[in-house]
Amino acid sequence: MRELLTFEDVAVMPGKAFVEPSEVDLTSRFSKSIEVFIPLVSSPMDTVTDWGMAAILARLGAIGVIHRNMSIEERIAQVKMVKDSIPSPWAEIVRALDKEPLASIYYRMEELGIGGALIFSSGRPIGIVVKPGVDQDYWYSKATGFLRLLREYKPAPLVDGEGRLRVAAAISPFEIGNAKALDEAGADALVVDVAHAHNINVISSLASLSKEISADLVIGNLGTREGVLDVLSKVENAAGLRVGIGSGSICSTAEVTGAFMPTLSAVMEARLALEELGLHGKIPIIADGGIKGPGDVVKAFIAGASTAMSGRLFAGTSESPGLKVRVGAKLFKQYRGMGSRGAIERRYASDRYSAPSKSIEEGVEGLVPYVGSVVNVIAEIVSGVKAGLGYAGATSIESAWKARLAKISEAGRGEARPHDVSF
Ligand code: IMP
Repeated sequence: MRELLTFEDVAVMPGKAFVEPSEVDLTSRFSKSIEVFIPLVSSPMDTVTDWGMAAILARLGAIGVIHRNMSIEERIAQVKMVKDSIPSPWAEIVRALDKEPLASIYYRMEELGIGGALIFSSGRPIGIVVKPGVDQDYWYSKATGFLRLLREYKPAPLVDGEGRLRVAAAISPFEIGNAKALDEAGADALVVDVAHAHNINVISSLASLSKEISADLVIGNLGTREGVLDVLSKVENAAGLRVGIGSGSICSTAEVTGAFMPTLSAVMEARLALEELGLHGKIPIIADGGIKGPGDVVKAFIAGASTAMSGRLFAGTSESPGLKVRVGAKLFKQYRGMGSRGAIERRYASDRYSAPSKSIEEGVEGLVPYVGSVVNVIAEIVSGVKAGLGYAGATSIESAWKARLAKISEAGRGEARPHDVSF
């Protein structure tokens, strides 16, 4: 029997480091023609990525995939809203010099409708100002996020040849007309959003669809070497692979159906197939599902991925479209699987799951802690991933593919966490 590995089953083997973690280069590829400066992707889920999330991620150098649980008119409008947004990260926050009087900073914030400012002295960020009367927690976390991010990385937006923000949009493999419309609306990539893409109907539809669009076509979800080989033998111009089945935090596919290809194993399988074809590094792998923090992102890269996709990490932020709820003194945001009852009831994306299972729920609905701005989340992941790649002896994501992972024992998992202390 084959053995499947999850992120928790492996550890990063330390490797000889040639640079300091802060110098690690995180530039990578989301798809054949889309370079990203921060190798993170937000999931196409209706509590994770709408145009607002996609716009802020692109302003920071990452990318969002707009979900498809809405009418085609709304989906097109959302793509256009990202493309029409101001591309600079400085559309998110005010920049001021330490010499500028507070009243003048407040005035500028008022005019721009922005509640936070970063204060610079001799080119370096030295502090933050939050305007009275605004959502203080949100602006504080956003400004702090910028401050942290600037220490690791010079924010650069992800833009197309015309200087407009990049955006990806989810599609069903069967909606060729809608795919063409999203392509014409300016989507830079179309991401196939189906739970099991290794299916002859999906593959034959994608073989036709791929010839009709100019945007990059990212195909998934896939989990095996054979699946990747079959897809690539039939679909010309596949520009990326989205891999992992059953690992998502809100996913009950494995429990309900028994099918499971954990994201880490799925990445290794896809890499095997791509290496056989001499295409690893040319067709990027997106590791999708089950990522709990920067350590898992690092493991996904070492296994062969170019970017990491997450719903869970972004769902708790202010910028996600999920509802914010208060339970007692604590704030949460709603987060649900696209195969959950609530998401299926909205109907538009119910063909994500195969026909016989349409009546079965493959996802759950829940709450995740509210964590403030996504800028802070990105800053935390960026610094954790750089530190992790530093341990692995990698200077970039491509060089991480040469680093090593090792299996750990149950005892090892215990020792790898803080232990024998009370908090
Ligand atoms: P997370 O980041 O661990 O929460 O996983 C998010 C990923 O789970 C998404 O990108 C999808 O691939 C997958 N997913 C989304 N909704 C469902 C569902 O209802 N059932 C199973 N998988 C899902």
